[in-house]
Amino acid sequence: MTLITEVRLRRILDSRGNPTVEAEVRTESGGFGRGAAPSGASTGEYEAIERPASEAITSARELAVPRIEGQVYAGDQRGVDTALRAADGTSDLSEIGANSAVAISMAAAKAAADVLGTPLYQHLGGAFRGREFPVPLGNVIGGGEHATDATHIQEFLAVPTGAPSVSDAVFANAAVHDEVHEILTERGIAAAKGDEGAWAPSIDDSEAFEIMDEAVESVADDVGFEIGFGLDVAGAELYDGGVYHYGDETKSPEEQVAYIAELIEEYDLRYVEDPLDEDDFENFAELTQRVGDRTLICGDDLFVTNTDRLQRGIDIDAANSILIKPNQIGTLSDTFDAIELAVKNGYDPVVSHRSGETEDTTIAHLAVATDAPFIKTGAVGGERTAKLNELIRIEANA
Ligand code: PGA
Ligand code: ZN
Repeated sequence: MTLITEVRLRRILDSRGNPTVEAEVRTESGGFGRGAAPSGASTGEYEAIERPASEAITSARELAVPRIEGQVYAGDQRGVDTALRAADGTSDLSEIGANSAVAISMAAAKAAADVLGTPLYQHLGGAFRGREFPVPLGNVIGGGEHATDATHIQEFLAVPTGAPSVSDAVFANAAVHDEVHEILTERGIAAAKGDEGAWAPSIDDSEAFEIMDEAVESVADDVGFEIGFGLDVAGAELYDGGVYHYGDETKSPEEQVAYIAELIEEYDLRYVEDPLDEDDFENFAELTQRVGDRTLICGDDLFVTNTDRLQRGIDIDAANSILIKPNQIGTLSDTFDAIELAVKNGYDPVVSHRSGETEDTTIAHLAVATDAPFIKTGAVGGERTAKLNELIRIEANA
């Protein structure tokens, strides 16, 4: 294996027009890798800390780069990530910033794959990977923190469970996105797009459920395979002062559990992410006990890709699925540990983008490398299609 000889960091644009961190890693033998940090808007309270891009770069140049250049082998991912943590010295990466850490961690993995001459998913997952593909969850209507004056529930996601290939699934989600627009137009409802490219109409949640139901059924008829739908409630964003706020209406935690269980029943929801607040492990467990045998209850802000929080959830059966966002925890090694712990305990990992993204395609490779059953990376829009098209390429070349 070859030594990392150079780590370069710079500010680049993300999809919201904000600065984010890009890292480039070069090795002794001419290997090259580039990675860029995504950025959340409805971030969990327990996530690793993202610093302003220029501060994160200055700090990482001073503290982390000298511990990596000429010190660590590109293929030694644990070595790279251990050096990043040692350089930072905090548990939440608040010194060098999780944005610098994740960009360097991903760039090093890509440089190692380049040296080996293998696709990234194969370097990360080994020779036997590349045969299982994730079902893409496509965000087609959304609001919450991703758009103003739209739905309270953050994301309504198409779930093409019956698709015969990842390519069919990706096109089905795009078709649902298009169908939603047609239905909105028929109803005379104007809609801009939110941060992830989902339609963000000024409608209430109940109308969004109606439209989703109609859209997935219509596209399923066209394509001839099953398409359901699911939600990211982003419950922590609705929760304030002990109740969930839906505009002027409020629901107690018990009412919220009953409401979500009813929605699952009524719409046969395949997937529900963060139905409750990020601190409410108990009501997560209550809901999972009620409906966990028929749908996925996924923890995003609840677990933040963190093995300690995931273990706490496993201990009380708080969910049956975990959202996996490398920048929530800061390194690929920590991300793999979370996926491994999840799979060992029967939790389905869902590899995920952030609302602020770049053209980086690492998460497509991560999902294939770990045989993750699902990936959530939008339905349309350049920074989303970067990952979806990469999945199509991986499938075509596997
Ligand atoms: P974020 O939202 O990237 O804005 O945090 C995505 C999500 O909640 O899944
Ligand atoms: Zn979420």
